[in-house]
Amino acid sequence: MDLSPHHKTTYPSMVKERSRRTVYFDNTATSFPKPDSVVEALTNYVVNIGANPGRSGHSLAIEAGGILFNTRRELASMFGVKNPMRVVFGFNATDSLNTAIKGFVHKGDHVITTAMEHNSTIRPLKQLEEEGIISLSIASADKNGLVDTGEIEKLIKETTTLVVVNHVSNVNGAVQDIKKTGEICRKHNLTLLVDGAQSAGYLPVDLKENNIDIYAFTGHKGLYGTQGTGGLIFNDNFDYKRIKPLRAGGTGSRSADIVQPDFLPDIFESGTLNMGGITALLAGIRFIKEKGVDNILTHEQQLADHFTERASKEIKGFKTFGYSPGNAGIVSFQIEGISVSEIAGELSENYNIMCRHGLHCAPLTHRSLGSFPEGTVRFGFGIFNTIEEVDLAVEALVKIEKEQA
Ligand SMILES: Cc1ncc(COP(=O)(O)O)c(C=O)c1O
Repeated sequence: MDLSPHHKTTYPSMVKERSRRTVYFDNTATSFPKPDSVVEALTNYVVNIGANPGRSGHSLAIEAGGILFNTRRELASMFGVKNPMRVVFGFNATDSLNTAIKGFVHKGDHVITTAMEHNSTIRPLKQLEEEGIISLSIASADKNGLVDTGEIEKLIKETTTLVVVNHVSNVNGAVQDIKKTGEICRKHNLTLLVDGAQSAGYLPVDLKENNIDIYAFTGHKGLYGTQGTGGLIFNDNFDYKRIKPLRAGGTGSRSADIVQPDFLPDIFESGTLNMGGITALLAGIRFIKEKGVDNILTHEQQLADHFTERASKEIKGFKTFGYSPGNAGIVSFQIEGISVSEIAGELSENYNIMCRHGLHCAPLTHRSLGSFPEGTVRFGFGIFNTIEEVDLAVEALVKIEKEQA
């Protein structure tokens, strides 16, 4: 076996020959396939670099450090933040949201969130409420999944410190009015934490313009990296020391100190980072920057529009939940008389079309949309999907409906 660090990668030989074409509409869970540049970057890191950044002084560690810094720089510039050190890496959005929420609150705080949250925010918040640390108010959403920012303002109390809002729904792509929410938070001196798991890479987002104090992102969805990366981005004006790190340990910096460093990003980055994932993420970000986030959004919205239009005309009993052409490219639907698990199962088994069904880790959202407890079938479109694939899916659904009738 050639163990030299410069041997040629063999990954193309691993590409599975599929007997039929696979249509992947589960990009909301995780984007797939990844751009070639992402695969190449990840492979290059594993094959040619491999080292930990910020620990050793050798050239491979320095190269890894350069990739890490460039990834922070790309993310900071993408989200309107000047200082790249304000980008801190975690393992995914959930991990980072836990740090932001649990590290921020104090006993007696009142927190406001919304009925459109993913379990990644609602569960840590409910945990804190059950432990008697915080009190929690949940602003409702209408049947399209939109939260009235006026209700958020009405829920503010003297003890309110934090507002947590999911930017884009992972169930139907509904986009919340973050600008207005940010204005309300500024006016009342509250911290705004935005769950950007479904907006990072899908919509242009500027933390400064929208008064977002803390933005949680994930690397494996709209940013087209691989699983196991995500993090927090702090607004240049936000005092990050208001958040207590949940972890402590080796950072590579100030090794003589037995206390956790108090500076960014090290304060929140204990332990070895997922450098393969971060290298892939850098390639993913550059890929979407080159394509243009606006263009990607338009493409995915066109697919969602086309699907909804055709399916509404051609499939008996087809019903969407809060679909609107202004949503990010995600459509949630049911077909009368057929369970969502049957639809998704048939699509996968007989048509090679991959999607997710059920409650999508967002039970409150389904209650708002009127699709609880059954849930929906969800099509989450990505940059590589095409109109032809959407047509295949409509035709498959027409057949499934007819077979069940
Ligand atoms: C709105 C929303 N928030 C948070 C998450 C959690 O992201 P991660 O899988 O990176 O922890 C998801 C993932 O589906 C999501 O859709």
